[in-house]
This record gives sequence, C-alpha cells and structure tokens, in this order.
Amino acid sequence: MEKENLRLNQDLERRTFLKVLIMALNALITVALAVPGLGYILTPLFRKDEQTWVKVGRVEDSPQGSFTKAVFRYISASGYVREEKSAFVWMRQEEDGQLTAFSPKCTHMGCNVSWSGRNDRFECPCHGGMYDERGNVIDGPPPRPLQRFETKVENDSIFVKRTEDG
Ligand code: FES
Repeated sequence: MEKENLRLNQDLERRTFLKVLIMALNALITVALAVPGLGYILTPLFRKDEQTWVKVGRVEDSPQGSFTKAVFRYISASGYVREEKSAFVWMRQEEDGQLTAFSPKCTHMGCNVSWSGRNDRFECPCHGGMYDERGNVIDGPPPRPLQRFETKVENDSIFVKRTEDG
C-alpha cells in the first residue's frame, strides 16, 4: 500500500513538472511571436517624417529679384497613414546666384503668407503680419522670422530640405 502511494506521488510530481514545463514553453512561444508582431504594429505610431530633400524646380526657371511659388509634391507618413501631398515654398535667386527659400507658413498661426513685390515684403492675410525679404518680422503679431529652408542644386534641379513642420 505504501509503495503504491509512493508511486502515485511520483506520478503526480512528474505530471505537475510536465504541466509547468509545457506552460513555460507556451509562454516562451507566445512572447517570441508577440514581440515582433507588436513591434510591426506599433512602430508606425512612433515614426515621424524625416527631413527630406524635395525637388522644387529648375535653376533656369527660378527668377532673380522676386519671390515665386515653387510647388512640389511629397509623401507624408504619419502613423499608418501615407499620402501624397503638395506644398510650396517662396523662392528666389539672389544676385550672386544663391537660392533663398522660405516656408509660406506665418509663424503666428500658420496662415500662408504672400509675397508683395510692390511692397517688397511678405504679407499675412490673417492678422496683418509682415516680413521683409530676409524673412524677418517687420510688423504684426508673428513671434519669429519665416522658416528658411536649406537649398541645393544638382544637375540644374533645385532641391529644398523640408520637414513635416515646413
Ligand atoms: S497668422 Fe499671420 S499674422 Fe496671424
């Protein structure tokens, strides 16, 4: 009788051990499958647009002296959403050939500013903000100068380094 009890106890211990082992293996497999899956699902939520160079035109089409709109298209990636958008910068070629490009977004509340060649300044239609040809605030509520973009020329094409903000 005692021998039989001992065997029963050993069987129970073996079964308990095997149950725990199987549960541990299941947990390990679940974690191994879940981590890459969660990473794949959650990564886009933390991804932000990087700074990118966008082509905005050709040097021969960029006038000297007056700012013109240089329209471009780009892919916006935010979270799971990727869409093609269009935007523009105010651009001109300086007398020395350098290119100047400004964001059209007013630094007050983000309205698009317009270049007034007659007054040699950028004017914001929303609250009367004004900027000089260097993008500096000359009147109104804007707290900062217009955002200036870095530019480069490759094979006669003009590129502007933009960010999601700009
Ligand atoms: S948004 Fe331009 S002055 Fe307010």
